[in-house]
Amino acid sequence: KEAAGKSEIIFIAVGTPPKENGEADLTHVEAVAMGIARYMTSYHLVVEKSTTPVETGMWIKRTLEANARKGVKFDVASNPEFLREGSAIEDFMHPDRIVIGVESKRAKDTLLELYRPLGAEIIVTNINSAEIIKHASNSFLATKISFINAVANICEKAGADIEEVARGMGFDKRIGRAFLNAGIGFGGFCFPKDIEAFIHISDKLGYDFELLKAVKRINEEQRAVLIGKIEKVVWNIKGKTIAVLGLAFKPNTDDMRFAPAVEIIERLIGEGAVIKAYDPQSMERARAIPGLKNVKFCRGPYDAVKGAECAVILTEWNEFKELDLKKVKKLLKQPVIVDGRNIYDPKKMKELGFRYHCIGRASS
Ligand code: UGA
Repeated sequence: KEAAGKSEIIFIAVGTPPKENGEADLTHVEAVAMGIARYMTSYHLVVEKSTTPVETGMWIKRTLEANARKGVKFDVASNPEFLREGSAIEDFMHPDRIVIGVESKRAKDTLLELYRPLGAEIIVTNINSAEIIKHASNSFLATKISFINAVANICEKAGADIEEVARGMGFDKRIGRAFLNAGIGFGGFCFPKDIEAFIHISDKLGYDFELLKAVKRINEEQRAVLIGKIEKVVWNIKGKTIAVLGLAFKPNTDDMRFAPAVEIIERLIGEGAVIKAYDPQSMERARAIPGLKNVKFCRGPYDAVKGAECAVILTEWNEFKELDLKKVKKLLKQPVIVDGRNIYDPKKMKELGFRYHCIGRASS
């Protein structure tokens, strides 16, 4: 009540979690829009910051119209967020672009003034376009990842090296090297849920987004690709002790939501493996996940690999890039590493005497 009364601009930044069917759950957005409507006593610019499907702005506007006091004016705008976990402040302060979707000059001028100090490129669109820019951007980045993972699988079969291929592709300015890192697929609370929501809203609007469905499928299959590699090195998974290095969905965060590690570990445990795991930041959150309750969480990476049949890298933390690999070799039962993030050089690993299996490159 206090915030809605005193402010000129109100950002709606509540969660939009996925429902069972993949559709975005917008009940929190509606609830907060009702609250704003109830307490607004003068003009407000209501900005949708949460990631929402196209046409949510229209629903916010309808909700405000239906519930605001008589005579109280407002505008609705969309201002999607593009920051990443782990580099949120840097991304917010130095964005590639700021997108504002508006339908009045007043709303446009207010947001231009608000963001002017950041000195970033500001793109002004209508509200529906701004909403689609967010879903399309995340979906395109996810498409790049699934594309490179598909190419990685071909590289393995053809004796090519995905790191060289990605580098060679990335020099083309139209393609770019970013988001061409092959691995165990994307996770986190953004890409998986936003792709689902985009597929769902496209369906609702009468378009079957087959391409995005394939992106999702390839991403899911990448988990199985890694498990297949583990099976190749330990033979039967049942009864084997496997060290997992890295649990978070990416480095520099403790976020375990939709982390590939959860699915991979659950499947390994399902097949009877004993899992010893270590992550620099996410173990507290990992402990709370029911499917990981039988995991033995370790104090450090060396503790995790001690006596294990093989070490599996699931998150590319710097700490793992800088490991004393000679020590790791001594501690492991067999000198075997399955690397889901391609953090080591296969040639060096061979020289060190490891059997090294990674993604999209020849194994040693
Ligand atoms: C993503 C977008 O990058 C942000 O622009 C967006 O604002 C955010 O979602 C959001 O919608 O809130 P984030 O989920 O924090 O940000 O993380 P990313 O750095 O994009 O990584 C996502 C996943 O893709 C991770 O699991 C990462 O390991 C994986 N990834 C990324 C790859 O497998 N390969 C790559 O080359 C890049």
